[in-house]
Amino acid sequence: MEPVLPPLQRFLLFSGVLILVGAVAWRSFVGPWQPPPLRPAMRRVEIRVARTGFWVSLLLICVWGIRLQVQVMEFRDPFAPLRDDVLFLLRETFWGTVWLAQGGLLMALAAGFHHLTRRARAKELRERPWVAAEWDPKAGVGPGETLPKGWKGVWVGVILLVLTLSLSSHAMSVPLVAPLAVAMDAAHTLAAGAWMGTLSLIIGLQARRHEPPHVLAGQLKAFSYLAWAAVPLLLVMGVMLSGFHLGELRNLWASDYGRVLSLKIFTAVGVMLMGFRNWRYGLPAVNEERGARSVRRWAAAEVALAACVLLVTAILVGMPMPEGVH
Ligand code: HEM
Repeated sequence: MEPVLPPLQRFLLFSGVLILVGAVAWRSFVGPWQPPPLRPAMRRVEIRVARTGFWVSLLLICVWGIRLQVQVMEFRDPFAPLRDDVLFLLRETFWGTVWLAQGGLLMALAAGFHHLTRRARAKELRERPWVAAEWDPKAGVGPGETLPKGWKGVWVGVILLVLTLSLSSHAMSVPLVAPLAVAMDAAHTLAAGAWMGTLSLIIGLQARRHEPPHVLAGQLKAFSYLAWAAVPLLLVMGVMLSGFHLGELRNLWASDYGRVLSLKIFTAVGVMLMGFRNWRYGLPAVNEERGARSVRRWAAAEVALAACVLLVTAILVGMPMPEGVH
């Protein structure tokens, strides 16, 4: 169990955090950017997105508990009582402070998403009669309403949560420019969530309800703009972080860390190629039932491959840096 638990815990943590980023990104950049005829359907999806955010936050609270156990396992002094080790970790180390903040944030996020689920459900009930009366298929695409305060609050919580990951990552040990490396690591994770977290929500929540194809089409179209902004940011930050952590190019194949990073880059390029294929050939056909089915299958495969990238990342962040780097 000992070698498996730390990467497994990190994999669950990364997956959950990316889904939470996806939830706020969906509510800001996908849900509101639909033509009015799709807005009632979007409200229903919003309820499911907020509810997923709630359950994922709860799940992450369990993962957060396991995280302390993993840390204690790694730093355990067999000659000291367990209680002393735990208290030392929580009171005297920066890791402990970040861990405590992470727990507080997760609890606040669970409460926030629960509140947003109830708000969205109430809004959906209130809007039912008049939205149907305002059906206008010629109306253009544009933001339906400004982002409600509750969602803005959850955005802040999610960004801080991402920051807690970066504050306990390898970025902290980059000499001289640690704050810059931490900011870049956080931007990398936010971009990964805006891309893969949002797509997994669109596909996962859609598949269960069998909405008509234009509901999926509208979401994927808005998502494609988001992906075109997120992927370059993810790449630039990823390459710069790789530079910090590798020191020199030959470490990419000459060190264990570099070889695992190469595997990650190789798999991530596969995800990007699948995403490009879906955008180029899937999106134009998504309005028809057959096209929508194919896009759903390809996008699900894309998300599955991205989960492999996360698994490799979960191993990578637990490895020592190449010798002499930092
Ligand atoms: C599907 C694409 C990708 C996803 C979902 C992804 C996700 C992540 C996540 C969640 C982290 C952990 C952040 C943390 O612990 O704070 C991370 C770290 C990192 N990623 Fe990515 N990433 C992707 C693509 C890439 C690419 C293409 C590169 C390089 C060109 C890259 C390089 C890195 C590096 C160097 C780190 C830091 C690892 C460490 O702390 O040792 N990533 N990534």
